[in-house]
Amino acid sequence: MNVRHFLRDDDLAPDELLEVLDLADAMKADRHRHRPLTGPRSVALIFDKQTLRTQLSFAVGVSELGGQPVVIDGRLAGIGVRESIADITRVLSRQVAAIVWRTYAQEQLAEMAALSPVPVVNALTDSFHPCQILADLQTIREHKKRLAGLTLAYLGDAANNMSHSYLLGGAAAGLHVRVAGPDGYRPDPAIVAAARQIAARTGASVTVTDDPATALDGADVVATDTWVSMGQEDQAAEREAPFRRYALDAAALGKAAPDAIVLHCLPAYRGKEISAEVIDGPQSVVWDEAENRLHAQKALLTWLLEHG
Ligand code: NVA
Repeated sequence: MNVRHFLRDDDLAPDELLEVLDLADAMKADRHRHRPLTGPRSVALIFDKQTLRTQLSFAVGVSELGGQPVVIDGRLAGIGVRESIADITRVLSRQVAAIVWRTYAQEQLAEMAALSPVPVVNALTDSFHPCQILADLQTIREHKKRLAGLTLAYLGDAANNMSHSYLLGGAAAGLHVRVAGPDGYRPDPAIVAAARQIAARTGASVTVTDDPATALDGADVVATDTWVSMGQEDQAAEREAPFRRYALDAAALGKAAPDAIVLHCLPAYRGKEISAEVIDGPQSVVWDEAENRLHAQKALLTWLLEHG
């Protein structure tokens, strides 16, 4: 099976990543021209966790590509509980052109992909959020007119899916990626090592630190994310104190380049990981970033279907 999946950011080589981003720009410029799913062909969108942007942008995107989105509530389907991942994959792949799945363990997604004759796309796991990083890279390039050589600082939960995806996807795009988080919330060393290997090929670099000022110093792009990811709700209280130092407020943003842009994948908790002044301020590009989920994912689906 030479089908291509997108389970983590490094499933696209650096040159392939740029192809997808170029296609995303073309699709944004001419929104209804590309219709590879006309027929229509259907795409399964499975959600085991909460969603707004991901369900919206994939459903709208599949429709705009000429296809039919089929949203499946993972709790109703009982994946891995009522039926095995293998059986569900066999059933779905007989009827849909691609499977988009938001779930907990990355291993579940890998198990599906190993069996699936149609592309499987990671719509967020505990480990990665690669579709978000495609949209973020498209947004950075729109505002900064380039990617390679820019510095991106990510503050907060450096052990979470966004941190891991910034490391891999940012390195592939040639960014100098700096992630800052407290003790106990640093990225998986295997992912840092993988990012460093990619960086060695693209001219990027990877810095992991506990010091937010080191990460922010002169950065072109500043990103943060919730301190409590989906599935971690029972840890909310214990996470508050260690993360406070990593809050992205006006003083922190002042350490970045004067024309730095601010990213946040949303939902945002104003007064926690980001101040209202910053997310609602002139350097924030979060609404462009949210819109670009649509264009980037349309491009990704199109690319995967063409390369399968
Ligand atoms: N790290 C967050 C991202 C939400 C889009 C989470 O997993 O909940």
